[in-house]
Amino acid sequence: MNILGVETSCDETSAAVIRNGKVCSNVVSSQLCHTDFGGVVPELASREHERLIVSIAEAAITEANITKNELDVIAATAGPGLIGAVMVGLCFAEGLAWALGKPFVPVNHVEAHIFSPFISDEPGHRAPDGDFISLTVSGGHTLLSIVHQDLSYEVIGRTIDDAAGEAFDKTGKMLGLGYPAGPVIDRLSRQGDPEFYRFPRALTSSSQTSRSYRNNFDFSFSGLKTSVLTWLGKHDAGYIEQHLPDLAASIQQAIVSVLVEKTIAAALLHKVSAVSIAGGVSANSGLRSAMQEACLKHGMELFVPKAAYSTDNAAMIATMAGLMMSRGKVTGNSYGTAPFARFIAAGKGAR
Ligand code: KG4
Ligand code: ZN
Repeated sequence: MNILGVETSCDETSAAVIRNGKVCSNVVSSQLCHTDFGGVVPELASREHERLIVSIAEAAITEANITKNELDVIAATAGPGLIGAVMVGLCFAEGLAWALGKPFVPVNHVEAHIFSPFISDEPGHRAPDGDFISLTVSGGHTLLSIVHQDLSYEVIGRTIDDAAGEAFDKTGKMLGLGYPAGPVIDRLSRQGDPEFYRFPRALTSSSQTSRSYRNNFDFSFSGLKTSVLTWLGKHDAGYIEQHLPDLAASIQQAIVSVLVEKTIAAALLHKVSAVSIAGGVSANSGLRSAMQEACLKHGMELFVPKAAYSTDNAAMIATMAGLMMSRGKVTGNSYGTAPFARFIAAGKGAR
């Protein structure tokens, strides 16, 4: 069974083929046209997807050593995401499925991140085989969920303001680190002192309020932004430049410690011994090592997708479609559902 996955929800144009659950190709093109704008410009993203989608899909099919007629199923991100960007991949994929007379499976992008530990590209790949706690952290989402093998899940916490990725990107922008700043903060942090300055950890046991945040699994990162801005306003440019790695490490520590504390607390409360981290921020080396250490301490097993499957990619869309088919979660393969209606329907799932 060959499944073609298509992903265009934000600024990555991606297509992948999985065969019998294994990744055969995963082609990702990251858009560079947004660099000067400090963030993703939706209209530019849509146009870039439109320019690239056919050649990226062809490359994924060729790399998998098949022809398009050997595809059995076509899947695409149906949302959430930038509406124009999603529409390009969705219309392309549904059109291709219709032309080939093959089933089409719409996939919720956030659910595909949640189930990314199941992406397999080598023999012996291990995925959770029971319930697990998923921390899904990207530029647009920060969700903590309890996930079950039948693909159902309950979201037990989410951000009430910025996503974890935005916390990295926006504080990084204040430090002049460009966009996206997450990977740069990660790199700089390796030479910095995480104890240099203690930025706030909101809604945790150590936040400076009298309220108890025990068993509160929501996140808030907007106070961190304000705190970084205030700190920068009080120091001169030379001092800031000199301490850039220390600032990066301190910001990373503030974000990572909250993510780890809440994930472990959720696993303990719900008596779940498997944890996974997914989404772009799960590529962060500080988060990976701190979560690994905390899981070891509590006898929990950590599942982390390879870095290439943490950020947006189509292998996760094809894998999710495969999981949905194997668990009987695909209902009907009718064409002609308006792509916009699919986008609205996807928005009713995880976001
Ligand atoms: O999942 P993703 O590729 O796209 C969305 O669905 O949003 O996540 C992108 C986010 C960006 O905010 C980026 O800064 C962050 O993931 N990111 C990182 C790292 N790599 C990507 N944040 C921290 N450390 C990293 N190594
Ligand atoms: Zn994503």
